[in-house]
Amino acid sequence: MTETQDSFFSVRDIHAYYGESYIVQGVSFDLNKGEVLSLLGRNGAGKTTTLRTLARLDNPQLRSGEIWLNGEPLHNKKSHQAAQMGIQLVPEDRRIIGGLTVEENLVLSQVSGEIGWEIEKIYEYFPRLAERRKQEAPTMSGGEQQMLAVARALARDIKVLFLDEPYEGLAPVIVQEIEGIVRQIRDIGITTIIVEQNAVAALRLSDRAVIMDTGQIVYEGTAQEVLDNEQLRHEYLAI
Ligand SMILES: Nc1ncnc2c1ncn2[C@@H]1O[C@H](COP(=O)(O)OP(=O)(O)O)[C@@H](O)[C@H]1O
Ligand SMILES: [Mg+2]
Repeated sequence: MTETQDSFFSVRDIHAYYGESYIVQGVSFDLNKGEVLSLLGRNGAGKTTTLRTLARLDNPQLRSGEIWLNGEPLHNKKSHQAAQMGIQLVPEDRRIIGGLTVEENLVLSQVSGEIGWEIEKIYEYFPRLAERRKQEAPTMSGGEQQMLAVARALARDIKVLFLDEPYEGLAPVIVQEIEGIVRQIRDIGITTIIVEQNAVAALRLSDRAVIMDTGQIVYEGTAQEVLDNEQLRHEYLAI
């Protein structure tokens, strides 16, 4: 029998496949409660696949390795169980529910699982969403939709948040606004993994960084170490 890990969120030698395609090839890392990790690397490195594996989605398939949250195994769970345990992935496409208003989207995310932030508290943190509470979500700007996606996550009682390219396609001023929100999420102690092509922006908010290439971890260190390492930045991050 394997012992549980001491750290809050622990990933132990996971191997994940899309069909017969071997994508995540032995990834391990640990996160303390409240830590923010940047998961970086070139396009196709396996970052999204790793997040999907950790969120226990059906695809990719986790064939070996272990994932632990606060001493509880996640590797033997389905995505809805992982969600109930407090794991939340905000995917790249943001998955806003069409035909619903901002408020309906928020209320719906509280239907299953434990309730996290009350809707009124969400509006305090996201005044733009408060202004648009009666607006149909798909008619909002990309930045507002990203805010709603994060707000939907906070409406549930989450413990670990995965953000897959939260800044993608957004204007710098909106990126700054979302950064402010991620900083607040960090300040309230939610453990977070950020995948971003905008590595500098992600590293600014992070304690630590993991760099992946072809499904494996090629570097692990503090965010500052990555920012200071020109060769690493050049080789894997194009910054
Ligand atoms: N649904 C899928 N089926 C098969 N292969 C996939 C699928 N999604 C991604 N891949 C492959 O997995 C590899 C890693 O992709 P991905 O995790 O999306 O990388 P990243 O997020 O780092 O850009 C790529 O080679 C990609 O082509
Ligand atoms: Mg990706």
